[in-house]
Amino acid sequence: MKYSSPIKRLIILLVILIPNLGLAQSKNDTIKPTEVWPDKQGNHIQAHGGGIIKVGSNYYWYGEERKKGLDTNYRYVSCYTSKDLVNWTFKNDVQIAKPDSVLVHWVIERPKVYYNKQTKKYVMYMHVDGGVKDPVTGKIAGGYAYARVGVATSNKPTGPFKLIKTFRPLGHESRDIGQFIDDDGTAYLVFEDRPFGFRIAKLSDDYLNVEKEMSLIPAHMEGGAIVHYKGLYYAIGSALTGWSPNPNKYATALSLSGPWSDFKDIAPPETNTYGAQSTMLIKIVGTKQTTVIFMGDIWKPKTQWDSRYLWMPLEIGEDKLWLPKPQPWTLDVKTGEAQVIPNGK
Ligand code: DGJ
Repeated sequence: MKYSSPIKRLIILLVILIPNLGLAQSKNDTIKPTEVWPDKQGNHIQAHGGGIIKVGSNYYWYGEERKKGLDTNYRYVSCYTSKDLVNWTFKNDVQIAKPDSVLVHWVIERPKVYYNKQTKKYVMYMHVDGGVKDPVTGKIAGGYAYARVGVATSNKPTGPFKLIKTFRPLGHESRDIGQFIDDDGTAYLVFEDRPFGFRIAKLSDDYLNVEKEMSLIPAHMEGGAIVHYKGLYYAIGSALTGWSPNPNKYATALSLSGPWSDFKDIAPPETNTYGAQSTMLIKIVGTKQTTVIFMGDIWKPKTQWDSRYLWMPLEIGEDKLWLPKPQPWTLDVKTGEAQVIPNGK
């Protein structure tokens, strides 16, 4: 019998031990909508109701951190980075302290981060909400009564972010928010104003204020998102059914100021958007193709940390937008090519 050298034995031992020490890196070859999406450490990605930006060659995905065991005195926004939109590295949880003593049972939802090239600041918008306690009578206006946006800034994409204010954009109630950056770099906020509808507004040059209303679409929709594709703006959103899915819809316009078309289904209505709710539309302009990705959340209200994602490349163009049946798919961010794997795993 031949004995292996001590070095050989050490290598074999390390090969066995390293994965068990949690040092192994998970690699995803495909995006698998509706399934657990492991980050590079193998943990399910916690970036719900999120938004993505690209700065240099890095994509940053910010979202609601909903893992178990968090300090409930704070709310958290997660930050992940990627080069290919498929494999994500967890970077940080941005900790946000309660911004107003009148807030009870408060939440932070749908964080979106913009990078301002002039000020070199990362500017985070988030939906801040909860019940509101009257300081004199102690009476609580329940549910999502606060209806504001919060703005936090950082010099680095991974934080720390400093919350600088909360406010009602242009004086309106604001619940779900969406982020849109046009091809000319102008930044917009989409926000749901419950009494009136879906508003699209331009941010100030430093992104710290919501400056000018572009459109009020008088439709009661949330999960608002926009993409500018081949000369046409496509706006999507969901109906107001809380955490339960519903048929998401889209409208189109030649300009952000409208007029907007009627809303049409993005998927067979009986599927309730395959159980997902819109959060963002990402446009990948590659060397061969432009792909628009529908980014949605499959909420699990009782086990929020297990909420899933439904990302699929859309069929889009000539006034039509359609979400294909969720199936695994591959993406090449350089060429822009997306390949659905029929019946794939
Ligand atoms: C639907 C919204 O889109 C979510 O972000 C969240 O606010 C739930 N409602 C809460 O019910």
